[in-house]
Amino acid sequence: MSTAEQGYFTEENSAEVVISRNAKATDARLAEVMAVVTKHLHAAVKEIEPTQEEWFEAIKFLTEVGHTCNDWRQEYILLSDSLGVSMLVDAINNRKPSGASESTVLGPFHVPDAPELPMGSDICLDQKGEPMLVRGRILGTDGQPVSGAKIDVWQANDEGFYDVQQKGLQPDFNLRGVFRTGADGTYHFKGVKPKFYPIPDDGPVGRMLEKLGRHPYRPAHLHYILEADEFETLITHIFDPDDPYIHSDAVFGVKESLLATFEKVEDAARVKAAGFDGPYFEVVHDFVLAPAA
Ligand code: BEZ
Ligand code: FE
Repeated sequence: MSTAEQGYFTEENSAEVVISRNAKATDARLAEVMAVVTKHLHAAVKEIEPTQEEWFEAIKFLTEVGHTCNDWRQEYILLSDSLGVSMLVDAINNRKPSGASESTVLGPFHVPDAPELPMGSDICLDQKGEPMLVRGRILGTDGQPVSGAKIDVWQANDEGFYDVQQKGLQPDFNLRGVFRTGADGTYHFKGVKPKFYPIPDDGPVGRMLEKLGRHPYRPAHLHYILEADEFETLITHIFDPDDPYIHSDAVFGVKESLLATFEKVEDAARVKAAGFDGPYFEVVHDFVLAPAA
């Protein structure tokens, strides 16, 4: 037996004693993960020196987070998002080669079965909001267009809600669509100018943010999943750089390379050419996919 295995638990050796108890683990990765978690958790407790009441508050908070999870709501993911852990895991798993577009969080509002639409379609099914045209190219890191790329896009409406949050109020699949590029790699579709919105903040994570003096808002964005044969799948957003929350996203998802330009177009000829009957916002953004590993 090692010294830690033989030794009694003390304030000083607490982490070593717990870690050594896992010496016969049959899952080496789990043992590795739990050793690191135990080491850092014990170090945090030693630094914080919580009272019994404070520790029980922490237990009650985590219990409430669990009780707030159901088929539609995942409060643990919100907790991970709001502590920056989701973005950290995303960064570790999506180190892109130079020139490739960067990833960001998926978020909870993707639906897997959005309809595939003809290129150029309007994904806004209820005509509410300021009209927007989004266009650009899907390219490889060699600058060549990617043909047959699947573009899965979704966005909140101009009140900051996704269709799945307003069932009955918004049409099903409002502001969602799947498009496929042709040989030239270009894409274009119509939507509405997105607005900032709060992450679900009526649960324990929202109350935690409030006590920490943090707002729950995400700056206006559009979500994308881009898939193509022989390329890595890219989960990302584009953001409105003029949004008031662009420097304080509640989930830390903003990256400089994901800022797009939302140009207000009032020129009558361009309005007509784009097929609108009044001013609209035009967003031009290319995505560059990394080759599959
Ligand atoms: C979203 O952008 O849809 C989102 C991301 C993280 C938490 C909540 C919402
Ligand atoms: Fe979103």
